Amino acid sequence: MVADLVSGERGAFAEVAQESFTLPSRYYLEPEIHAQEIHKIFQRSWLYAGHVTDLPDEGSYLTEDLAGQPILIVRAKDGQIRAFFNVCQHRGHILLSGRGRLKGRIVCPYHAWCYGFDGTLLKARLTDNVSDFDTGDFRLKPIQLAVVAGLIFINLDPEATPKDGDLREFEASILDHLPEMPHYAARHRFEFDIAANWKVVVDNFSEGYHIPVAHPKLATLYNKQGVSSRLGKRYSFYQKTARSGFSDFETKGDEPYLTWTLWPNLCLLSLPGSPQLVVLRMSPNGPERCLERADIYSPPELESPNLEAVESLFADIFNREDISLVESVQRGLASLGYDQGRYVVDSEDSWFSESALHRFHRQVLDALADGNQD
Ligand code: FES
Ligand SMILES: [Fe+2]
Repeated sequence: MVADLVSGERGAFAEVAQESFTLPSRYYLEPEIHAQEIHKIFQRSWLYAGHVTDLPDEGSYLTEDLAGQPILIVRAKDGQIRAFFNVCQHRGHILLSGRGRLKGRIVCPYHAWCYGFDGTLLKARLTDNVSDFDTGDFRLKPIQLAVVAGLIFINLDPEATPKDGDLREFEASILDHLPEMPHYAARHRFEFDIAANWKVVVDNFSEGYHIPVAHPKLATLYNKQGVSSRLGKRYSFYQKTARSGFSDFETKGDEPYLTWTLWPNLCLLSLPGSPQLVVLRMSPNGPERCLERADIYSPPELESPNLEAVESLFADIFNREDISLVESVQRGLASLGYDQGRYVVDSEDSWFSESALHRFHRQVLDALADGNQD
């Protein structure tokens, strides 16, 4: 599906970044566009929900609110991890909250219908007199799930396959650099409520154009030379090399600084001299707010090099500096004094310019256009 070429006050979004005006500001403000994004992007894409080490045992579960839907993920007796809508099939009470470990079954807190970890309805109290009542008709509604280098993804589209999301290619790329990722565990989870559209935050992560200006300390960490990239249909990967002598980090120089993005809302980074992986997701919360959550994964050994430095770099530089940038941009997008700008793209189409930003916006427009004729 080719995107409708949308226009704003200054001009049209174009296929070629050098010729294109940026997404008009209504894409960051209008409730109708936001509703379309939930339906056509978030309810049809692979969304990150956690890691297999969050669910170590039979009955371990976690709950999430993804794309506006209550989700339950549980490890069953057969060792399989399964996802369901977190909704009782009797009268719709939410079944579980938070995270934890269950013994044997899921019990609804309202009238105590009981479900197995495979979603089967095991027991429904006092239903002997209910005519034609078959527990087999009231299984929990399943959701597609895929495990990618230990990371758990779900997709609310029942027809989705990991191929649609390039998930296997993305997995190979992560395992190439972090082969132990399936055994990593989340050491810290941060959560930030941000007064900006989710795309403003993804936009910010997609371009290195702002780094020398807005993150001068971070800019000293890597070389501009020797950047390599791999662009899949749904993911991107960039590898930069680190400079030695960065004050907070034991870096030897030439160590890789890795970033990935996965459509639509996932950004991952692995800093030089550290085996950690920071997984960032931006979940929409209305047109002008989002929840940014960061999970910091590290290898199972207790002593993990540079873990504290990664955390403070992340909390101080990425978050303090970036949140103020994106909230300022959201206020500007809502101003009568702004509608569109231009993509600043260098001759190599590099990460240090806004080439990936244009690509991301193209994907948004394609997804919104898809199904318009349904
Ligand atoms: S709503 Fe769950 S048992 Fe009634
Ligand atoms: Fe930034």
